[in-house]
Amino acid sequence: MAILGIDIGGSGVKGAPVDTATGELLAERHRVPTPQPSDVTSVVEAVAEVAAQFDGFDRVGITFPGVVVDGVTRTAANVDKSWLDAPAAQLFSDRLGKPVSVLNDADAAGVAEVAFGAGRDQAGLIMMLTFGTGIGSALFLDGTLIPNTEFGHLELDGHDAESKAADRAREVEDLSWEKWAGRVRDYLAHVEMLLSPRLFIIGGGVSKKADRWLPLIDIRTPMVPATLLNNAGIIGAARIAEIDGEHESRAGVTPHEAGEKVAH
Ligand code: BGC
Repeated sequence: MAILGIDIGGSGVKGAPVDTATGELLAERHRVPTPQPSDVTSVVEAVAEVAAQFDGFDRVGITFPGVVVDGVTRTAANVDKSWLDAPAAQLFSDRLGKPVSVLNDADAAGVAEVAFGAGRDQAGLIMMLTFGTGIGSALFLDGTLIPNTEFGHLELDGHDAESKAADRAREVEDLSWEKWAGRVRDYLAHVEMLLSPRLFIIGGGVSKKADRWLPLIDIRTPMVPATLLNNAGIIGAARIAEIDGEHESRAGVTPHEAGEKVAH
């Protein structure tokens, strides 16, 4: 089934139609810059501009860099505060004229990796972590998403972990790979102690340079770089929109938040 996936990031809003059986993009993706400020009205228009480039899809999945419960955006750590408690799915759906599913960006990236990438066919507890502007987390048990975990905001040495160990901290503080990897190591060791996952999948821009820093991290849990890279958000959002289209909500809970398997 062709579903449009759209990924709202710190610098760009990107989208493409996705074959949700294979996880492949059906057309070259289209990108527009993320509006600044990234308020609700401007971002809805940017999403509409991306969607207007494509046709032949009947549902849309959209990522958001914060907590999303039943289509309502609950937090806005790295976007405009007008998103706090915004009825995002409804707003997008009204503007695009199609059913829309909205989910957290790291959850979407994790869904794509578990369904089609580095987490495929892996049993047990798996954790995806994305290192970018912030740190995003996504947790899966046997291919089922446990939505809206916010492990990027764990406390690390008295600070919000993402303010010290996200890729942005490396850039802003101009840290060497060794110094930054030391912080990421302490962060991952803490998450490992709390959750004992079987596997960490590492995503975000830094996963492309995994050879520079991954070997410096000495923890017990196996770690692999994400394989779908820039397209993971688009692909995962489309897969979640497919799930929402195929299942009834249970006791008022949106299907993709209610334990439907994301792997085929
Ligand atoms: C947000 C998460 C998001 C992550 C990556 C964090 O600041 O709280 O919801 O997944 O950034 O964008």
